[in-house]
Amino acid sequence: TIRRVSAPDITARKGATPIVCLTAYTAPVAEILDEHCDIMLVGDSVGMVVHGLPNTVGVTMEMMILHGQAVMRAAKRAMVAIDMPFGSYEGAPEEAYANAARLMKETGAQAVKVESGPTVAATIEYLVKRGIPVMGHVGLRPQATLIDGGFKAKGKSAEERARILEEAKATAAAGAFSIVVEGVAEGLAREITQAVTVPTIGIGASAGCDGQVLVVDDMLGLFDWTPKFVRRYGDLRGEISKAVAAYADDVRARRFPGPAEIYYAKAG
Ligand code: KIV
Ligand code: NA
Repeated sequence: TIRRVSAPDITARKGATPIVCLTAYTAPVAEILDEHCDIMLVGDSVGMVVHGLPNTVGVTMEMMILHGQAVMRAAKRAMVAIDMPFGSYEGAPEEAYANAARLMKETGAQAVKVESGPTVAATIEYLVKRGIPVMGHVGLRPQATLIDGGFKAKGKSAEERARILEEAKATAAAGAFSIVVEGVAEGLAREITQAVTVPTIGIGASAGCDGQVLVVDDMLGLFDWTPKFVRRYGDLRGEISKAVAAYADDVRARRFPGPAEIYYAKAG
């Protein structure tokens, strides 16, 4: 049997080889990623990337469970972490625990991720003490986009940088096994990475982190528009467009289906 990457394995990678993480939402893509990634994150970005929502606020527990189940059916080796959606963990710790346990039971994922706003450290501690591996998420927090005024890099002022650093420290002290650091300049990413004993996993946060994560559809080039921090390793949008155009041409010209692509009745 294949030994699966665990939360302690990830924590132990601090200062060693960089941690490779991508988001995953579907079984076929997860099957490919499983060969190459240490962590697959069922991100609530699924709401925007797959379901066309304007932000992640509308993502539900049910959406996370469905995509978590799909990814878990294909994941054999990589650790699978699943985002707790907006509204499922910011209230009472007991409620956060019930929702985290439900996500883990119904999907089989090994960990949950929460966006570490100022009040979340106590909840992280509550979950970890009860056996749930938790990944934190500081800096640009997509679920806070409605009060923050959009998807903008964070840590522009010294005050904001100090707050983000404190949130990262509180997240680590609460027992998170790793922390996503999103949308901050290199200096702050390095400061956070040095200040905490658990690995930082950066997105738009420089090479100063202990690992990297990207939204898989972004790095595969499935969209016209990609943010500055994304490197496009593929052009899936171009590939899909070419393939669909060729199919449409063939159907219109009656070139598809051809003789090899049809069934034949038995003679007699
Ligand atoms: O939802 C998501 O995809 C994320 C990662 C990009 C960190 O939270
Ligand atoms: Na997320």
